[in-house]
Amino acid sequence: MKTGIYYSPKNVGTTTLEKPAIKENEALVKVSYAGICGTDMMIYSGQHPRAEALLIMGHEFCGMVDEIGDGHDFQKGDRVIVEPLLNCGKCAACKVGQVHVCANLKYIGIDKDGGFTEYATIPVDRLHRLPDNVTDEEAALTEPLSVAIHTVRRSSLKVGDTVAILGAGPIGLLIGLMAKEAGAGEIFISDVSPYRLRVAAEMGFTAINAANESIVEKVKSHTREVGADVVFEVAGNQITADQMIDCIKFQGQIVVVSVYKKAPVINLAKMHFQEISLTTTRCYSPDDFTKAIKQLEQKTIDVNPIISHILPLDEIEKGFELMENPETSLKILFHP
Ligand SMILES: NC(=O)c1ccc[n+]([C@@H]2O[C@H](COP(=O)([O-])OP(=O)(O)OC[C@H]3O[C@@H](n4cnc5c(N)ncnc54)[C@H](O)[C@@H]3O)[C@@H](O)[C@H]2O)c1
Ligand SMILES: [Zn+2]
Ligand SMILES: [Zn+2]
Repeated sequence: MKTGIYYSPKNVGTTTLEKPAIKENEALVKVSYAGICGTDMMIYSGQHPRAEALLIMGHEFCGMVDEIGDGHDFQKGDRVIVEPLLNCGKCAACKVGQVHVCANLKYIGIDKDGGFTEYATIPVDRLHRLPDNVTDEEAALTEPLSVAIHTVRRSSLKVGDTVAILGAGPIGLLIGLMAKEAGAGEIFISDVSPYRLRVAAEMGFTAINAANESIVEKVKSHTREVGADVVFEVAGNQITADQMIDCIKFQGQIVVVSVYKKAPVINLAKMHFQEISLTTTRCYSPDDFTKAIKQLEQKTIDVNPIISHILPLDEIEKGFELMENPETSLKILFHP
C-alpha cells in the first residue's frame, strides 16, 4: 500500500509498505480522505513535543471498513469516521468521564500511525458509522468540526450576541459556522490573508483584514463602543492575545482556542475592571464528536467552502508546502 511518511523536520514523502495486519478489536480501514491540521504542521516543522519520526501522520480521516473480526457492530464495506483520541482510562479526569482532558491523552496520527496512508488499523471503539447523506469529503472535517462544537458549547454565547473571531483558519471558520448555528448576531472575523477573508465573507461573516484594519475599532463602532459579547481567539499570537481583551464587552467572555507556539502575555490588569471571563478549550468530548456527525447529517451547516485542495498522497510534500502559506490553503485533504 502507498503510505505518507514523516521522515524528519520538513521532510515528508511516500513509500510502499505491506498492508498492516489487524489485532484483536481492531479494524482495517481503507482511508478515503485525510485532512492536514495545524498539529500536523507542528510535527512537520519539528516542533511537536511528542510526535516522533518515522510516523504516518493524519488524525482527521474517514474511510471504509476493509477487514474486521466477528462480534463487532461494523462489517466490511461500512463507511466510517475515526475519532482519534486515545485516553488512558486511569487518570483523575478519565475517572470522572472528562476523557478529553486526560492527563495522558494520545492521538492516532500523532502518538501512533494515522491516516495519511491507504490502509490503517484502528481500534473498533474509535470508529463511528457515517450517515449516507454525508460525503466522504465532508466527513473528513468531522474532527475539526468537533473542536468548533466543543468551543462554542464551552462559551456563554446567547441568541443575538455579537461575536468576534480572531483568525479565519479552518478552526476559526468552523467556529463561525457553529456560532451562527447557535444563534449569534453579527460575527466579525479577522485575518491577514485576503484569500481566507474572501472565504469568510462568502460564508456570511463580516471579514476584517487585520493587516490594514483594526478589529477592535470595527467591533467597537458596531456596538456603540461596548464590544463583543464573546471573543474567540483562534490566531495564536501576541497581537491577537492583546486584541481579545480590547474587543470584549464588560462582563464578556474570551474563549482561547489557540495553541500558542510562544506563550503570550495576557493583560489581566485590564480584565478585572470589567469582570471579563477567560475560558480555554481542549479538543472535544465524545459527545461533541457525535454531535459533529449529526450536524453534518442534518445539513444545517456547509463545511465544503473550507476545503481548498484535494491531493493524491503522492503530493504529500506539495500539501505541506501549500499549508505553510495561509494565502494558498485552507483545509487540504489527501485522497489516498
Ligand atoms: N483547543 C484545541 O483543542 C485546538 C484544536 C485545533 C486547533 N487549535 C488551535 O487553533 C488555532 C487555529 O487553528 P487553525 O487550524 O485554524 O490554524 P491556522 O494557522 O490555519 O489559522 C490561524 C489564522 O490566524 C491568522 N492570523 C495570523 N495573524 C493574525 C492576526 N494578527 N489577526 C488575525 N488573524 C491572524 C492566520 O493568517 C491564519 O489564517 C491554532 O493555534 C491551533 O493550534 C486548538
Ligand atoms: Zn487536528
Ligand atoms: Zn486519562
